[in-house]
Amino acid sequence: MGHVGIAHKHSLFVVEDAAQALGSRFRGQHAGTFGQAAAISFFPAKVLGSLGDGGAVITNDDYIFDRVYQLHDHGRDIEGEVRSWGRNSRLDNLQAAILNHNLKTYDNVIARRRNIASLYQARLGQLPELQLPPAPNSNPDHFDIYQNYELQADRRDELKEHLRINGVGTLIQWGGKFLEVLRSIKQARQEDAYGESSLETTTSPSESDEEPDLDKIKEALGGITKLNSLIIRAQELANNFIRMQDLMLRSVTLSGEESDRLLRYQTTWERRLSSAIGELLTLQGKNTK
Ligand SMILES: Cc1ncc(COP(=O)(O)O)c(C=O)c1O
Repeated sequence: MGHVGIAHKHSLFVVEDAAQALGSRFRGQHAGTFGQAAAISFFPAKVLGSLGDGGAVITNDDYIFDRVYQLHDHGRDIEGEVRSWGRNSRLDNLQAAILNHNLKTYDNVIARRRNIASLYQARLGQLPELQLPPAPNSNPDHFDIYQNYELQADRRDELKEHLRINGVGTLIQWGGKFLEVLRSIKQARQEDAYGESSLETTTSPSESDEEPDLDKIKEALGGITKLNSLIIRAQELANNFIRMQDLMLRSVTLSGEESDRLLRYQTTWERRLSSAIGELLTLQGKNTK
């Protein structure tokens, strides 16, 4: 019996942590759709990442939808009526626009990550010192999106250093510290061996098979300063746009001339906002190359 079956048997709710699983499937069913609700993260390092923090709750349950909706917007319901206490956990418009844009090519990004995972499998699969994650298509039940490519290595620290010297970045998840904490409360005994050998690299499509190009890194660092000022600019534009929309909504009592003027402003702000977002996305693409 699977986890969901066990939960049903005992009348338990299932809330999925699908933070890094958007698009992955088990026996054809998407992560995030197994229980009553699921959380997804749009943290920039995620496969579907924004330029800042963000996330979403998925649910088919009307009660959970209403409660989460109110909680995320100061207790207001979808009609704007205050129903309960809440907090400000709204996804801001700029991040939403970027996510909408990135969502359009999400399937291609996943396909490319799976290709890169196959490449790792083909080139590293024969090395006895390494234990790789399952390759794509190795089990028809699982469709993995390879948010992280985490492997085990007998001489993990030596390998990490060797790769670093050769310009290949890797990561030890949580710097290995999380397991240390668990160990101190004696809960991670069987995970010790894994904790000491696990090493993470990426299947991010921005990684290529080419030798690392240091000039590109320098160029990217220069770009980051420009990127920051563009983000601030785009955020200002987004705020102005929202103010403008607000005025538009209340402009029903305005004269025809005033409404026309507001409409012209709105069109201008919309154009500026989308060109700022366009520039941001181009820069984001350059910085991750
Ligand atoms: C499995 C899992 N759960 C939760 C989180 C936390 O997501 P966030 O940083 O958006 O709160 C992450 C992100 O690293 C994750 O991978």
